[in-house]
Amino acid sequence: MCLVAEGADADVGADLEAAPEAFIRAHTSLRAVPLVPEVSLYLHDRPFDIWSETKVARGGELGLPLPYWAFAWAGGQALARFVLDRPEFVRGREVLDVASGSGLVAIAAMLAGAARATANDIDPFAAASMRVNAEANGVRLDVSCEDLLGRDDVIPSVLLVGDAFYEQPLAEAILAFAARLHGLGITVLCADPGRPYFASEGFEAVAEYDVPVPRELEDTEVKRTRIWRMGE
Ligand SMILES: C[S@@+](CC[C@H](N)C(=O)[O-])C[C@H]1O[C@@H](n2cnc3c(N)ncnc32)[C@H](O)[C@@H]1O
Repeated sequence: MCLVAEGADADVGADLEAAPEAFIRAHTSLRAVPLVPEVSLYLHDRPFDIWSETKVARGGELGLPLPYWAFAWAGGQALARFVLDRPEFVRGREVLDVASGSGLVAIAAMLAGAARATANDIDPFAAASMRVNAEANGVRLDVSCEDLLGRDDVIPSVLLVGDAFYEQPLAEAILAFAARLHGLGITVLCADPGRPYFASEGFEAVAEYDVPVPRELEDTEVKRTRIWRMGE
């Protein structure tokens, strides 16, 4: 279930569990995405600071994942750029952006003319982030926090995956899900900046971008990122 408070006001003392949208607005800032200035997101520059703020807001809970939703990852930036540059891939179509984080790729798909975009992430705070970001960009997103990767009843017309190949189980689940959809004739586009678990077999590279990224997060200021289309 998504823990998403509707209509909360920004407030620096905002409680993450009770009012995640207010927490996000208070602890991040709305700014243009470096490679995709058409889109603005509530972002944070310093991963370990927002991680600590999130932990404090959750009573010191241990084992919290990095708040992925607070960054525009290299893969998401590149894939968002690609759908805006090549709108024919999404125009008039139903798009599913899995492992969506901030919602960046789904937002770009809507700006590029998609009929409908579902932003999916299992982190309920990502869902709150998608909602504030969609509102900031004046687009409507369908937000989903279910784990869709094992499901065979989810059939979009385009599957988009930005930067989700950093962990082996997740990468394998996404590649299996993508292969099943591709077998049904669905367009599959993945963006990868060289994460360890992307397997390019069966894909063709269709674009490449040099993506500005925070040094604290990636240990570099630019990540070369490819867009891969699952082959015919
Ligand atoms: C590195 S972030 C990428 C976010 C976004 N696509 C981007 O490029 O900015 C990966 C995201 O995958 C999400 N994730 C992990 N397991 C997932 C699953 N089974 N289904 C959907 N999302 C998942 C995480 O919560 C995280 O937000």
